[in-house]
Amino acid sequence: MSAARLAGEGHRVHACVRDLKKSQHLHVETASRGGAKNLSVHAMDVADPVSIKAVVTEIASREGVIDVLINNAGFGIGGFFEDLSDEDWRRQFDTNFFGVLNVTREVLPVMRPRRAGRIINISSMAAFSGSPAFSAYASSKWALEGFSECLYMELKPFHIDVILVEPGSYRTRIFTENARYAANFNRKDSPYYAMSCQLKSFVDSYLRRSRRSPEEVAKVISALATQEHTRFRNIIGLLSRLRCWVVRHIPFELYAWAVARIFFRGTTKPHA
Ligand SMILES: NC(=O)c1ccc[n+]([C@@H]2O[C@H](COP(=O)([O-])OP(=O)(O)OC[C@H]3O[C@@H](n4cnc5c(N)ncnc54)[C@H](OP(=O)(O)O)[C@@H]3O)[C@@H](O)[C@H]2O)c1
Repeated sequence: MSAARLAGEGHRVHACVRDLKKSQHLHVETASRGGAKNLSVHAMDVADPVSIKAVVTEIASREGVIDVLINNAGFGIGGFFEDLSDEDWRRQFDTNFFGVLNVTREVLPVMRPRRAGRIINISSMAAFSGSPAFSAYASSKWALEGFSECLYMELKPFHIDVILVEPGSYRTRIFTENARYAANFNRKDSPYYAMSCQLKSFVDSYLRRSRRSPEEVAKVISALATQEHTRFRNIIGLLSRLRCWVVRHIPFELYAWAVARIFFRGTTKPHA
């Protein structure tokens, strides 16, 4: 959506997808905003350094410059720690964390000599507060925040801005066709089965009721990509800012108690 919006606003956009056959909706969305001529779509897997190198080299030779990099690719693996395999964790980090490092590593040598540029990393509210069954996702975004803080300081002397965007929950494909679960999530023989049923129905009903449009996030990203003065951290929406404030100011034990009340009310005690 951000790519379509930026192209519609007249910016030259190179969007990357893993499977070009699945980019039809991006072309349609961009055309509906009048930006078709500004959009090029490339095949890239952020977990595959070879595909990144090929795409960045092509863009750099075609455009000569890369003004803004938006590290957006990401997904979430749902599952309690004991239901998650080592492979689940590695897949989560390969995209959400190492993927950002891989792409940034290739783009920086194009940006740095010009002493100008902007890197926008899409983090999450999950980077401020943990919640049950999202440890892999939250950890990957916490790692991204730490990396981004350090990179911000390293790149300041080169006039390259590093920016974090921290959205709350929006109904996107991350919760539908791109949703991923631990192999053992919601299995009847898992000691976490009762909790996972409760959690799943809470998340489903929350998303059904959610009226927040991802356009809200695209609007912020487009402003951050283009406006002169920017902030490092960008939490989107009043409710998210309020939640973040509460998390920072109340004792963690109280926050964890409230989360358990919301997610697991009435759940029978987990069995050993
Ligand atoms: N939606 C929310 O509530 C929410 C909240 C906070 C943060 N975020 C963050 O926002 C970003 C965008 O998510 P979204 O909500 O827009 O979900 P989405 O609709 O599922 O979009 C995620 C995109 O990332 C791509 N992707 C996943 N793994 C990739 C890889 N290895 N290489 C290249 N592309 C890859 C997916 O491409 P494929 O189609 O090829 O899978 C998909 O186009 C993510 O970083 C997510 O963590 C989302």
